[in-house]
Amino acid sequence: MPLKIAISSQKGGVAKTTTTLSLGACLAAATDSRPYGYNVLLIDLDPQANLTMALGVNPGNLRRMIGDALLEQSSLLAVSRESAIANLDLVPASQGLLVLDKVLFGRPGFEYRLKQQLTSPAASQFDITICDCPPAFGTLTLNALTAADLLIIPVTCEYFSARSLQQFMELVNLVKRNTNPTLRYRILITLFDKRNRISNIILDQVRSKYGSTVFRTIISIDTRLRESPVVGQPITVYAPHSRSAEEYHALAVELMNDEQTQS
Ligand SMILES: Nc1ncnc2c1ncn2[C@@H]1O[C@H](COP(=O)(O)OP(=O)(O)OP(=O)(O)O)[C@@H](O)[C@H]1O
Ligand SMILES: [Mg+2]
Repeated sequence: MPLKIAISSQKGGVAKTTTTLSLGACLAAATDSRPYGYNVLLIDLDPQANLTMALGVNPGNLRRMIGDALLEQSSLLAVSRESAIANLDLVPASQGLLVLDKVLFGRPGFEYRLKQQLTSPAASQFDITICDCPPAFGTLTLNALTAADLLIIPVTCEYFSARSLQQFMELVNLVKRNTNPTLRYRILITLFDKRNRISNIILDQVRSKYGSTVFRTIISIDTRLRESPVVGQPITVYAPHSRSAEEYHALAVELMNDEQTQS
């Protein structure tokens, strides 16, 4: 503690944002074994601002967003805001990040801007930060991977997805060699359809190749997860007893148990 997580994959639509929000909400929630929940900060690093919108915040109306912190014009705390969920704060994004991704490149120490913000004393009030990355490997993703202790890579069990995982691992190794040698990674299977034969074959392949880095918890396809962003609520609030809410709770438990063994 504190734990810094990046959720990233260069592949689009693999549930990065859904996982950031659902896992964050599960970690923030009180449970029998953890009566107060963790203090969680979610950071939207994607110009699409899907995480921001999924928490009911309009990215068009922001006075400040993550870009201001990356340009060192604001502190991370000054750009963060409380969400409607207890213990869950958000640093929002807007479309302006699209330009910032390019503007930041080449500035001195540009890869370390987010890391600096997250290691400031003010940020230590958060037990866990989770960064939602865009589906591309630019300066924003590089900042998230440089700042993170742990990278979670969501993977769907389709042929192209498994292939792009291989390519993404090369980028992860590049980050490990250059800006973050202690970065660890875990793979999360998402949007899983257990009735599909190919999905099961690819699941076996991913598990045999990546071993214990693959979370035992699998996130299945569940239409409730498609509905919850529309009403601006995490699945834990929108459908707390749904299968996907239970799966994300199981993921939170597995993650924190493994992290405690690790430290
Ligand atoms: N387990 C699931 N079951 C059903 N739908 C899901 C599930 N997980 C995510 N989705 C839906 O799949 C779509 C893509 O999910 P999401 O936006 O989280 O992916 P992403 O990786 O963040 O996408 P992008 O690369 O565009 O940022 C969304 O419509 C989301 O609601
Ligand atoms: Mg997303």
